[in-house]
Amino acid sequence: MRRLLVTGGAGFIGTNFVYYWKKKYPEDLVIVLDALTYAGNIENLDQIKNCPGFLFVHGNILDQNLVGGILRDHGVDTIVHFAAESHVDRSIHDPDAFIRTNVLGTHSLLKAAKTCWLDKGSGKPHRFHHVSTDEVYGTLEVNAPPFTEMTPYAPNSPYAASKASSDHLVRAYHKTYGLGTTISNSPFISLLIGKIGQFTQLFRLVVL
Ligand SMILES: NC(=O)c1ccc[n+]([C@@H]2O[C@H](COP(=O)([O-])OP(=O)(O)OC[C@H]3O[C@@H](n4cnc5c(N)ncnc54)[C@H](O)[C@@H]3O)[C@@H](O)[C@H]2O)c1
Repeated sequence: MRRLLVTGGAGFIGTNFVYYWKKKYPEDLVIVLDALTYAGNIENLDQIKNCPGFLFVHGNILDQNLVGGILRDHGVDTIVHFAAESHVDRSIHDPDAFIRTNVLGTHSLLKAAKTCWLDKGSGKPHRFHHVSTDEVYGTLEVNAPPFTEMTPYAPNSPYAASKASSDHLVRAYHKTYGLGTTISNSPFISLLIGKIGQFTQLFRLVVL
């Protein structure tokens, strides 16, 4: 049985992940931590909010005491980190919010995880999974070969740069402290998930 902290679980992809996970592993504990920014929607979680083994915490990933308390009190062994400022256009007009949440917020989570799992922890198995984007590799030209993990980082927007920064921090916490981390750099999937997922968010299409 796993005990997950899912950040940004009231957002577009996080919500779909939470339903997927609880359906596949109903015995697992899933705690959603979400600040409910303009992008989060608590109603996304209506159908799961009363299920056993599900908890919602309204809070910010930058709140290290809050995150530390959740990790400790619930014996969390897995963090799936979706929470982010995620709209490229907004990052052009207000990059500061992207640095705060995507860079400082991710670092705050990493510190809380290190404290709980390595400094004070028992060395029990753990995983910090960071949900990133292929935009850290730049812009894929038509007919160009696909990006791979070997593609050099070349972010082209403040959003992509903030995600690239957070990727590097996650890598550094693994290399420096031995934190168990994984990173996924998946492509833009909103339209696809919007069609096949449980919650179609036309809202996102409007924002983009
Ligand atoms: N949507 C895509 O196509 C796509 C593609 C590749 C990668 N990603 C990545 O996947 C992740 C999820 O994307 P999404 O489209 O679901 O994003 P989204 O904007 O729909 O959801 C983000 C969620 O994070 C929450 N949040 C924001 N700041 C927070 C903070 N400081 N503390 C706690 N919660 C906070 C928001 O309230 C919201 O619920 C992001 O990290 C994004 O970079 C998205």
